[in-house]
Amino acid sequence: MITEADITSLFASTLERVTDADLKAKTVKAWALACQRGGWESVDELRSMPFTLLTNTRGVNFIEHTIAVTEGAYQLAKAQEAAYAKLPYAIDYDRLLLGGLLHDVGKLLEFEKDEQGNVRKSRAGMCARHPISGTALAYEVGLPDEILNTIACHAKEGDGRPQCLETVLIHQADFATFNPLVMMAGGTLIQ
Ligand SMILES: [Fe+2]
Repeated sequence: MITEADITSLFASTLERVTDADLKAKTVKAWALACQRGGWESVDELRSMPFTLLTNTRGVNFIEHTIAVTEGAYQLAKAQEAAYAKLPYAIDYDRLLLGGLLHDVGKLLEFEKDEQGNVRKSRAGMCARHPISGTALAYEVGLPDEILNTIACHAKEGDGRPQCLETVLIHQADFATFNPLVMMAGGTLIQ
């Protein structure tokens, strides 16, 4: 069983920068709940789960992806803050960090293990992709609307929709990790 303590230690270096203890606790709760409902039993399983089934991830796992996207989005925000004399919009770092950690939490329901221990799309995943199931989980634990937006609108579901700044940054960091793998598979990544 994956506990809230497991999730807290898995994402410790990110969570320690979050100032709102209540939002942090709710985020950890949503992750533990998703692991439980999705039938994920150990942190090792999470570390061997591919982050997408849409392309060959070449060994990049779900936890690595979640951290890379969160930290990528954080650095995009920090770069603007450092480079601009006047930042045109406010950045909510709690929303950014927790939204990053949560953006793909619904994949714990969208994917499942098969009899051989491989990962496949679940029936729940066919009914609702991870932006939808992740948003439902976050709502259930009481996270605010703006964090729901980072989950609901980080992928194609958010195209052309109103988005928080943090959603935009998470989206860009997400596709910066996904597109090169898709391009490698299609032979269009120049190396
Ligand atoms: Fe993602």
